[in-house]
Amino acid sequence: MRRKLLVGNWKMHKTVAESRAFAEELGRHTDKLSPEMDFGVCPPFTSLQILRVLLPTRVELGAQNVHFEPKGAFTGEISVEMLAELGVHYVIAGHSERRHVFNESDAWVRQKVHAIASAGLVPILCVGEDLRQRELNHTLRVVERQTLAGLAELNEEQVAQAVIAYEPVWAIGSGMTATAEDAENVITAIRGVVKAEKGDYAAANVRILYGGSVKPDNIAAFMTQTNIDGALVGGASLDAKSYVQLAQSMLGGLSE
Ligand code: PGA
Repeated sequence: MRRKLLVGNWKMHKTVAESRAFAEELGRHTDKLSPEMDFGVCPPFTSLQILRVLLPTRVELGAQNVHFEPKGAFTGEISVEMLAELGVHYVIAGHSERRHVFNESDAWVRQKVHAIASAGLVPILCVGEDLRQRELNHTLRVVERQTLAGLAELNEEQVAQAVIAYEPVWAIGSGMTATAEDAENVITAIRGVVKAEKGDYAAANVRILYGGSVKPDNIAAFMTQTNIDGALVGGASLDAKSYVQLAQSMLGGLSE
């Protein structure tokens, strides 16, 4: 049985003071975070330390990026060990903004996912087609390629522990979402390639999230789908009240 998962991706938002305010506000509502679900927040690196101290223990710490080398002359980069020392549990790899704005290739993403999983942390591998690829009907081809490339170096057990986030690029920050049925179809196809490549156990256990303009008022529809295990949320995760609403609406979707 896969536990449902809500992860906030703050991108380049929030100073330390703002992160503290979020954690304090969230701390006043922990009774609304169901013990049946898992939670994560991925702040900028600079806020990891304060959130490690102040986030409710139910909410795991996540990072938005990492470099795959253990150490060395890589100005501006952060290693997996540095994140682990700060109590980080989830690490996003291959977010579309990293792929498109910073030119990260499948090969880089593959090495990041491998480094994260090898250290016992949980990779959140992001995959998704852009608008042009969607219009050309290449969605499944693109996400299947990104999924297989990202997971290539993981064994079956590591895949079972991992998280994949299907985020159509055109839906991120745009206010447009895939329909729940469309997202379910793509996510079912992703689970299918995981099964073909990594086996039944990996496919049955890997958690696959939807992301892209998820809000408290649309998240429940995604959660009614069999293969969607949660959401990776940007904008709507920045406000603690909205984060709590997402958590509660998610549960509403589950009980329908
Ligand atoms: P959004 O971002 O919820 O603001 O669309 C999602 C993401 O980029 O992970």
